[in-house]
Amino acid sequence: MHNPRKTLKKEKILTGDRATGQLHLGHYVGSLLQRVKLQHDHEQTILVADLQGLTDNGFNPHKVSSSILNVVADYLAVGIDPQKTTICLQSAIPALSELTMYYSNLVSVARLQRNPTVKSEISAKSFGSSIPAGFLTYPISQAADITAFRATLIPVGEDQLPMIEQTNEIVRKLNHIAQDDILVECRPLLSKVPRLPSSDGKNKMSKSMGNSILLSASEKDISKAVRSMYTDPNHLRIEDPGQISGNVVFTYLDAFHPDSVYVDELKGRYQNGGLGDITIKKILEECLQDILNPIRERRKIFMSDKAQLIDVLRVGSQKSQEESSQVLNNVKCAFGLNLISG
Ligand code: TRP
Repeated sequence: MHNPRKTLKKEKILTGDRATGQLHLGHYVGSLLQRVKLQHDHEQTILVADLQGLTDNGFNPHKVSSSILNVVADYLAVGIDPQKTTICLQSAIPALSELTMYYSNLVSVARLQRNPTVKSEISAKSFGSSIPAGFLTYPISQAADITAFRATLIPVGEDQLPMIEQTNEIVRKLNHIAQDDILVECRPLLSKVPRLPSSDGKNKMSKSMGNSILLSASEKDISKAVRSMYTDPNHLRIEDPGQISGNVVFTYLDAFHPDSVYVDELKGRYQNGGLGDITIKKILEECLQDILNPIRERRKIFMSDKAQLIDVLRVGSQKSQEESSQVLNNVKCAFGLNLISG
């Protein structure tokens, strides 16, 4: 009988995270859960992007180096299985840096300055006139990451779409030079989950802004974060009708509570008046504790065996270097720079 699962072409998936801090609940709903699912039917590589993390931390490298194993522990704690998913470290794969060097000659400075994500990051980070060259060019390095693995599907948030676009431009230019399809174009797999707000509701949850609930958060941290969450400032007494829109507690209940019918019922009661902030916060806290308690415990065990985490990265990086050196050889050949190697 025809089995659609069998004929489904296995796509190569690449995702990555800058190593600039531990992962948080926003990563969990936005990408980690999806990666855990995707690893069963796809060939998936996850890159710990320490070099990209360094592009705005060159003078603060400890932030990056101290994050690497923490990020790997986060992956393993949520159920990413290194037997199914290749987990690798960007700086341990020289082919990625070499490819970046070759691609740099195909991209203009003006094109990099036009990249909307880079543009808004530059103004947010207030580099002034001292934009690190590595920061401006990180989309090229990201194109190297993606093409080196022949990845065709890139699960990302909206902010990463300009990187995919720039990657495909490089792919087309290089294939034109090579007169052969040596690189493959990729497409985004957009996350359907909107970015989670921080507890004050004013910002997005962010690794760098320190406004997030980490996967390693203690019971106390979680309880404190939920208690301080922004609700509806006009909902002063329990019997007052309350607003759902912009109410961070309900945004989180929507994202994390397993029973959406129950959450809808709570919303109705809150809007009509008769449901207090303390009660909805208690429900949310319980739900987050249920999700994070087992993750925190597993994470602790992984962090207590650093040698095992390093081994996961070593094995994954070796495999990745082998994969990407083939692409690198083809790129060197395209430029005719393979006299000695390749
Ligand atoms: N830019 C991504 C981030 O901000 C990290 C990243 C680096 C990445 N290389 C990648 C994502 C390749 C997808 C594909 O976290």
